[in-house]
Amino acid sequence: MKKVFMALIVFALLVVPMAFAEGAADGDGPKTVGFSQTDNQNPWRLAETESVKTEAANRGYELKYSDGQAVQANQIAAVRDFIAQGVDGIILAPKTSTGWEPVLREAQEAGIPVVLVDRDIEAPKDLVVTFIGSDFILEGEMVAEIMIEDLGEGPLNVAELQGQPGADPTIDRKLGFENIINNYPNINITMSQTGEFNRTQGKQVMEAFLQADGENIDVVYAHNDDMAIGAIQAIKEYGLEPGKDIYVASIDGVRDAFVAMKAGDLNVSVECTPLMGPSAFDALESAWAGIELPDWVINEDGAYRSTDVDQAVLDSRKY
Ligand code: AHR
Repeated sequence: MKKVFMALIVFALLVVPMAFAEGAADGDGPKTVGFSQTDNQNPWRLAETESVKTEAANRGYELKYSDGQAVQANQIAAVRDFIAQGVDGIILAPKTSTGWEPVLREAQEAGIPVVLVDRDIEAPKDLVVTFIGSDFILEGEMVAEIMIEDLGEGPLNVAELQGQPGADPTIDRKLGFENIINNYPNINITMSQTGEFNRTQGKQVMEAFLQADGENIDVVYAHNDDMAIGAIQAIKEYGLEPGKDIYVASIDGVRDAFVAMKAGDLNVSVECTPLMGPSAFDALESAWAGIELPDWVINEDGAYRSTDVDQAVLDSRKY
């Protein structure tokens, strides 16, 4: 009898408090976080998804994940669903820059903090904890500056492959590139169309550009690497040498771009990190602790030319 009594005391002292400790801050089990991803159409986005999933697992959070499949309405429905499920926080990688205010107000009214990753939106700043992402205008400017260093002041005809219409990086990468080339009257964007940030459509649009005026294209400026890689395939099939006959420049710095730079097919790629997981969860933890963050946590970007890329650089790429 005495032994049973002792066992009950040990259980009460050790096991019951441990069970409560697992419930962490709210004593309610691990925190749950919803992640609404734009799409998974290219390696950059797959790397971002992986980064958020891995970090959730590392920190012991339950992650509810939704792929918006490049449709904003899917993302809005996913955020509403996260709110209905009573998640503790939401990470949102928004496809377009407008149309988010109503659903973000619903999250705010439910007391659920929302962290924006990789693309900014047009909405009152108090609706989100912070925006974590790159300076897309600066990225476009960097591409133009490197192109001018490499090729001079023209004449240059640039074929532009734009990202998804209405997306923050599409708007700003175009603006940044134009900020620089507008100072050079002999450098002009002579063709410009969306390739939707993916390889297949980047290739199709480049094929059309080449059919229309292939002999007069000096530069391809693609708003991301995946479209540049599609364009490189189209240039080869057309019978020209990418990287030599046509200068190819893009943004993201994914592994496939480094392979293309090492082969001499891609001239330059400006980095844009997709590794958002750690900073996104840091931001949510700050929100839960009542710590204010700046409106924008800026990711720093570098740039690589094909001449910078050897096997060691390629091997060191994390995404
Ligand atoms: O928002 C970042 C951009 O979106 C990346 O450049 C692109 O690859 C992605 O789909």
